[in-house]
Amino acid sequence: MKIINVVAAIMQQHQRILIAQRDRQSDLAGYWEFPGGKIEQNETPVQALVRELEEELNINHIQVTDYIATSTIQQPERIIQLQAWKVVAWQGEIQLRCHTNFCWVTPDEALNYQLAPADIPLLLAYQQT
Ligand code: C5P
Repeated sequence: MKIINVVAAIMQQHQRILIAQRDRQSDLAGYWEFPGGKIEQNETPVQALVRELEEELNINHIQVTDYIATSTIQQPERIIQLQAWKVVAWQGEIQLRCHTNFCWVTPDEALNYQLAPADIPLLLAYQQT
């Protein structure tokens, strides 16, 4: 089965984290997630994160501090390996280019949202940091 390596950012500001809602065209439409996406060939996870956050949120010069955890989820025809990194600073105003919505929530509040399944263990790991 195909393994897809994906990276996501747990962006932190004033004790809150950012979650974004996937758009109707995507798989997991309407689910909330940490922004990110597939790691391309010859990219490190952090390079992929830099590219994805610029593409999805229009921000750059991100400051990545810690690796949080990796979760593995089996989908019908592929396995998603999703790794999360903590991002504590960036430049630019957030503008959504792929998602329909975003919000800043406390980690506890995030649990009230319909999160993508692979993101839930990452949130729990973040809460332990
Ligand atoms: O964002 P993109 O579609 O490139 O991500 C690839 C796959 O990784 C998605 O189809 C989704 O299943 C999964 N994903 C996820 N949680 C994230 C980001 C992506 O489950 N935070």
